[in-house]
Amino acid sequence: MIVTAHAKLNLSLDVLGQTGDGYHQLRSVMQTVAFGDTVEVDLTEDGSFSIDPGQRYLPADGRNLAVKAAKLFLEGTGLGAAISVEKRTPVCAGMGGGSADAAAVLRALNDLTGRGLSLEQLAALGAQVGSDVPFCVMEGTALAEGRGEKLTALSPLPDCAIVVCKPAFSISTPELFAKIDRRRSRLHPDTAGMLSALEAGDLAGVARRCYNVFEDVLGRRRGDVTALRSALAERGALGTAMTGSGSAVFGLFASESDAKDAWQALSAQYEECFLTRPLPGGGQPM
Ligand code: C5P
Repeated sequence: MIVTAHAKLNLSLDVLGQTGDGYHQLRSVMQTVAFGDTVEVDLTEDGSFSIDPGQRYLPADGRNLAVKAAKLFLEGTGLGAAISVEKRTPVCAGMGGGSADAAAVLRALNDLTGRGLSLEQLAALGAQVGSDVPFCVMEGTALAEGRGEKLTALSPLPDCAIVVCKPAFSISTPELFAKIDRRRSRLHPDTAGMLSALEAGDLAGVARRCYNVFEDVLGRRRGDVTALRSALAERGALGTAMTGSGSAVFGLFASESDAKDAWQALSAQYEECFLTRPLPGGGQPM
């Protein structure tokens, strides 16, 4: 079975505090986009698990989230899975690439085995694999709270063009969380305002509230992110932000042609630059 593992963006990302078990309490508006990895999943009768991760420096064993998800789903069945990933989503970008692969494996195995779990049940399994996996199972537009696993479906982001670019550097997620803990006061995104704007179908209202608290603690790397945000805004983006723990930055555009021009201009500077759209919930075809 071949499925698409759609990437995600955090339109807003707030960290509310620590949970006491090494995690943080988040409040984030998340959005699926219409591109991602292609994941092929086959059942194995001998119970073996294997993965071709699609890139040399990704784990090709049980550390890969896709394998973790397969083992969890198939526990006690005697069956295994052979997984092959064609990578398109940038790695270490904050776009949930590994989580989306794991979610895609859960959905594929649910079909292949005919077990018929609901999306909510698959999301609950996914929460054991990683904090972003439940959203990647559900897809669409959602408010993620708790560790990221408490999801509330939201009115869809109005259709728009999205440019995403990843600067060359990557950021360690735990390192950024630690820096957030040391920061006494911080700016917070206007999450309530973003929820109202989504409800009203107001793209500009959503876009101007795009903000990610991690941008505040990037240190010397902040300049690259700010420059990329400015470049997108100068070319007509209604709103821009870094996604997740970075380092990818996105811009939301009302104008398809502005977005195309921005994408073309930035592709000359950034190796990983994409032009995409929001994907509504329900796993619509790309
Ligand atoms: O859940 P996941 O394995 O994707 O999280 C990776 C790391 O990110 C965790 O080990 C933790 O350091 C950090 N994290 C966090 N709070 C969250 C999600 C992730 O501190 N809500």
